Amino acid sequence: MAIRPILVAPDPRLKQTSKPVEGPVTDAHRALMDDMLETMYDAPGIGLAAIQIGEPVRIIVMDLAREGEPKQPRHFVNPEILWASEEVLPYEEGCLSVPDYYDDVERPARVKIRYLNYHGERIEEEAEGLYAVCIQHEMDHLEGVLFIDHLSRLKREKALAKLRKAKREAAL
Ligand code: NI
Repeated sequence: MAIRPILVAPDPRLKQTSKPVEGPVTDAHRALMDDMLETMYDAPGIGLAAIQIGEPVRIIVMDLAREGEPKQPRHFVNPEILWASEEVLPYEEGCLSVPDYYDDVERPARVKIRYLNYHGERIEEEAEGLYAVCIQHEMDHLEGVLFIDHLSRLKREKALAKLRKAKREAAL
């Protein structure tokens, strides 16, 4: 396992559409998921899409356990949303690729999802609350969409300006 560098916006690689995993989930995919979880725990964060470490494949990891609780790693390969509620839930989101910026995003409060897990088993389940927020946020990454893309243009530009400034300062 290895901690990998996390891409930070604005980085054109984060705008890519990720490709589905073709065929079965292999040890190579599991090694990537292990690296992603280690990277996410180190950051620390609660979700990470493969593209955030520069791998444009439809793989997500997540752990919604609270501090002090045992780890509950979750793995998603080729996730799909089968159904979304009309009811929405506003939630203050953040992103490891948009550091130090948080804002409210409204998304469907409940979704039904289908994916392959770490062992390649096909799972269908309903997600609500933070789980629903997080899976939709991470699935956006697979389409090259960041949570700030859901905000007003003014707010998005403000967030990106802050990130550009931080990058310039880090380069000095
Ligand atoms: Ni994110």
